[in-house]
Amino acid sequence: MMSVKKKRKKSLNSNPSSPTDTNIDPQNLPVHVAVIMDGNGRWAKKRLLNRIKGHEKGSETVRTVVRTCREIGIRVLTLYAFSTENWRRPQSEIAALMALLKKFLISERKEMLDNNIRLNAIGQVERLPEDVRRELHRSMKLTEKNDGMILNLALSYGGRAEIVKAIQEIARDIKSGGLDADSITPDLISKHLYTGTMPDPDLLIRTSGEMRISNFLLWQIAYTEICVTDTLWPDFSKEELLRILKNYQERERRFGKVDT
Ligand code: IPE
Ligand code: IPE
Ligand code: MG
Repeated sequence: MMSVKKKRKKSLNSNPSSPTDTNIDPQNLPVHVAVIMDGNGRWAKKRLLNRIKGHEKGSETVRTVVRTCREIGIRVLTLYAFSTENWRRPQSEIAALMALLKKFLISERKEMLDNNIRLNAIGQVERLPEDVRRELHRSMKLTEKNDGMILNLALSYGGRAEIVKAIQEIARDIKSGGLDADSITPDLISKHLYTGTMPDPDLLIRTSGEMRISNFLLWQIAYTEICVTDTLWPDFSKEELLRILKNYQERERRFGKVDT
């Protein structure tokens, strides 16, 4: 295997669909990778730092992971950045997370434009502070024509709230007479989720060792391959992501069937 260092020097635009210097099979990449970015607080605590320092370091990992996914040709990357339950954290931590998000949206705008990345948000974005929403919508508008990779940021996101929203929309369509109850299908429900017509995640990565889903993409992960790593999010690296992708490629996805 060639050294990963060599790959790092490659420009983002240098043929993202052929990861030539890894042993990852470009034909068998997960189309959609979802990540529960967990462990920022523990990373900081281990160093006797404020939790906010962990979030700051974690935002650097976000940059690395977005870049790597774009380089190797992942089509959809969904990052769980803030859950509906995270609103219950101390106000000071929420404020710091929102400030970091705003900073990220501004600082990464050029990179997204240069690398054909479309930014999308999933979740109750209306609950975000006005200034953050403004930057978010600005980036989404500026990148709306990009088709290299969709970067979904899950912000104020909750899987149950998303399903409730879908059911409410469908119930309204039934009540107004346009829809018959028998025409409710899994596909129809999927279309009413924030992820709409995007494919379901093929791979879900959770950092920091917690064996739980924490209300993330509940409907969409029915047949997603799961990888939980003990690494705390600020320590998560490009090398580990590549190892996880390699491991994904070695799995047999059965979808309930048997080999014939
Ligand atoms: C993930 O790290 C970031 C968010 C949930 C916003 P945590 O803040 O949950 O870190 P831990 O789990 O306390 O270590
Ligand atoms: C999940 O992490 C949410 C995000 C990564 C944004 P949490 O740290 O909030 O999850 P729990 O509380 O450990 O389940
Ligand atoms: Mg956590």
